[in-house]
Amino acid sequence: MRRKLAAGNWKMNGTAAALPELQSLAGSFPDASVDVLICLPATLLHRAAETVKDTGISVGGQDCHAAESGAHTGDVSAQMLIDAGASAVILGHSERREDHGEQNDDVRAKARAAMDTGLKAIICVGESLEQREAANTLDIIGGQLSGSIPDQSTGENLIVAYEPIWAIGTGKVPTLDEIGEVHDFIRARLERRFGEGVGRSVRLLYGGSVKPGNAAEIFAVSNVDGALVGGASLKAEDFSGIIDALQKA
Ligand code: PGA
Repeated sequence: MRRKLAAGNWKMNGTAAALPELQSLAGSFPDASVDVLICLPATLLHRAAETVKDTGISVGGQDCHAAESGAHTGDVSAQMLIDAGASAVILGHSERREDHGEQNDDVRAKARAAMDTGLKAIICVGESLEQREAANTLDIIGGQLSGSIPDQSTGENLIVAYEPIWAIGTGKVPTLDEIGEVHDFIRARLERRFGEGVGRSVRLLYGGSVKPGNAAEIFAVSNVDGALVGGASLKAEDFSGIIDALQKA
């Protein structure tokens, strides 16, 4: 059985003034039956980890460097994230692929570093609107999966997030059939590459404009094990609605 996961991605949002949102989220779910993870800006990680200590919520980063340490001004290593209290890291988000030119090879190298260090890697894949309209979605996703996911992946250290780029922060969501098609495809690819046991144990998240109002129907789609949530993870009230829907799914 795959344990369901509600993961928040605060992106470049939040200072210490936002920490009470975490406190209030933790207060709403003293014993959530699903995993709850919030991926924060690196500057907030340590304080956030302290804030949610002894609650069911865990914290994660949004990127890490592939190297253990060294001359990489401005970057953060996987070990540094762990040191700050993280248990997971988002890698290859489309905003990193876009803003920082990250390629599949870069994402795979970062994922290796994360897994070697003991972090769970949430590897993001997703097509642009142009690619979807050209009926290239599955080709693109297939290439991102084979290029970005390292060989050492297991159900324990890997989570895959399907995030259509055109659905991120836009309020647009694919149809449930479209989500199901991609999630079934990702599952089949993972089973083919890693065998049925591992392939079936990796959690698959949907991301892109998930809100309390659409979460329940998305969570009912086959092979959707949870969500990666941007905007709606910033407010405890909104994210609570999504966690609630996941608990009932
Ligand atoms: P959104 O972002 O929920 O604001 O669409 C999702 C993401 O980018 O992870």
